[in-house]
Amino acid sequence: MPPTTDLGTGAAGPTAYTAYRNVVADSFSAWYGAGRDSWTAADTNERVTRFACDQSPAPVPGLRRRVLDVGCGRGHQSTAFAERLEADTTGLDLLDVWGAPPPARGTVRFRRTDFLDHVDEPLDLLVDNGCLHHQRREDWPGWAAHGAELLRPGGTLVVSVFLSPDGEITALPLQDGRLNWWLTERAVTDLYTAAGLAPLDRLVIDRDFAYRGHRLAYLALSFRKPHP
Ligand SMILES: C[S@@+](CC[C@H](N)C(=O)[O-])C[C@H]1O[C@@H](n2cnc3c(N)ncnc32)[C@H](O)[C@@H]1O
Repeated sequence: MPPTTDLGTGAAGPTAYTAYRNVVADSFSAWYGAGRDSWTAADTNERVTRFACDQSPAPVPGLRRRVLDVGCGRGHQSTAFAERLEADTTGLDLLDVWGAPPPARGTVRFRRTDFLDHVDEPLDLLVDNGCLHHQRREDWPGWAAHGAELLRPGGTLVVSVFLSPDGEITALPLQDGRLNWWLTERAVTDLYTAAGLAPLDRLVIDRDFAYRGHRLAYLALSFRKPHP
């Protein structure tokens, strides 16, 4: 993936990607600033954390696991991965709103950057809890390919999205322009298999929340990077 920061400096001004990334950053900044980040303390996060830890491959003998938490927000899950997997974990976000206490085991570092600009040593586990479904649809294939590229062979990717309640892929943009996508299992599976990953497991998590007559849920899917 080319660094997205290089794409926004031409005479024509910011590219559509950079412009949308700024919309996302401004939107989340306002939500965190107003204490509206209800997702941070949601019980559902613990379910995703447990699912991701269960899906993680065994560490390479003699090495600690390496974990990336994409769109880590406040960073509590990054800390949980470090502790529960005794892993070296990176929490990455467009914003520096992290505030989780240091882990009792393993290590955590936080990085403020766009996911598509992030380069790393090969990862055992990559977790995207609630980030893909805020991206533009045209960016999904590159997003999935970048995640797959960051994994070591045998590594696992876990992605958690808003599950479409009616089988349709639906965009629900906020007034500030940030997208919320309701996704289908087929769409997410196709995205990551096209990126070369093999489906592993799935978990549907009830959000205990109704909207427009639908009872909404999260869908967490895991994928493994095959050995060559
Ligand atoms: C719904 S929040 C989820 C935060 C965290 N994973 C959790 O569950 O508490 C989505 C997060 O993704 C971040 N984000 C969105 N687009 C991103 C991008 N392109 N690169 C890095 N972070 C991004 C936002 O800033 C926000 O903190």
